[in-house]
Amino acid sequence: MPDHPLYQQLDELAKAVDTIALADEAELAELRTQLLGRKSGKLTHILRGLRDLDSDARRDVGQRANRLKQQIEAAIAAREEALAVPRMTASDVDLSMAGRRQWQGAIHPVTAVVDEICDIFREIGFTRVTGPEAETEEYNFVKLNIPLDHPAADEHDTFFLDGQAKQPCGEWKAPGRLLLRTHTSPMQARTMERYQPPIRIVVPGQAYRRDPFDPSHSPAFEQIEGLVVDDGVSFVDFKAGIDFFVKRFFSPETEVRFRPSFFPFTEPSAEVDVQCQLCRGSGCSTCKQTGFLEIMGAGMVHPAVFERCGIDAERYTGYAFGMGPHRITMLRHGIPDIRMLYLNDMRFLGQFAL
Ligand code: DAH
Repeated sequence: MPDHPLYQQLDELAKAVDTIALADEAELAELRTQLLGRKSGKLTHILRGLRDLDSDARRDVGQRANRLKQQIEAAIAAREEALAVPRMTASDVDLSMAGRRQWQGAIHPVTAVVDEICDIFREIGFTRVTGPEAETEEYNFVKLNIPLDHPAADEHDTFFLDGQAKQPCGEWKAPGRLLLRTHTSPMQARTMERYQPPIRIVVPGQAYRRDPFDPSHSPAFEQIEGLVVDDGVSFVDFKAGIDFFVKRFFSPETEVRFRPSFFPFTEPSAEVDVQCQLCRGSGCSTCKQTGFLEIMGAGMVHPAVFERCGIDAERYTGYAFGMGPHRITMLRHGIPDIRMLYLNDMRFLGQFAL
């Protein structure tokens, strides 16, 4: 009996159920009449046809038709409910309201400066290395020719950590204290102990001092250390290396000035000044009318440092430098207060997003 036309009508009815879920209000009313209408509804038509069937077929078609009726009624009820949910209309939305800003991730300006500086030194053969922020007195001071009872060690205003270093420290031959490194210079000693010359490294990293958090200081700050050790490295190589960096980083016209200074780990020592980027050397409040700004400490490596780090001081010479990328970032962008680089205020940082 399944080839009886009523079965075909049942199939068509089943297909119509799927269209209910997509109907709008007018279409739904129409579908309801088309499918369930008492006069000419398709289901009504099928039920009326039952009387022409024999009893088996009547039961079968009847059951199927009733199941379909329930499905249709349920689908119509579900669609009615969905259509009853109030929809947003144009008058509910303020189309003139500004959209919500999506922040785009970007490199922090200090990180960008650190990367740029390391890239410039890589062009002239420097390798980028990093080292521990928790250091020992031995590496932070003693190996760099800073005796622990020397005022230079006090000037660093060190944060000490609980605990003792395992190795003996300096002339005391007793374990030194653990501390947060006050500069990246200890990596000079760690590198020289591990590798023989030629050495050409830059060491970016955090250093820590008990400094106030004010417009020009932070207790945690970035440094980049540099070290070159080789046969016959001269003061001329030192000046040429620094000059190359300054001209590449700032501009080819930027003047560089070496001022005599003192550091226990270099001899002679210098402070390196560059022409003020704001007034171009004519004098302003940023450079205190001098036309120059200091960007790093540097000098020729002291033979005492070589001796403490296992390098033949008779044979080798070298130069070293240390600079503060926060300060250099401030100079480059004219940032008046170092704290702006730490506060993670998106209104400020967003200006540097590329
Ligand atoms: N370590 C020094 C400081 O933090 C900076 C410095 C000066 C590093 C001279 C050097 C150098 O390598 O040669 O104040």
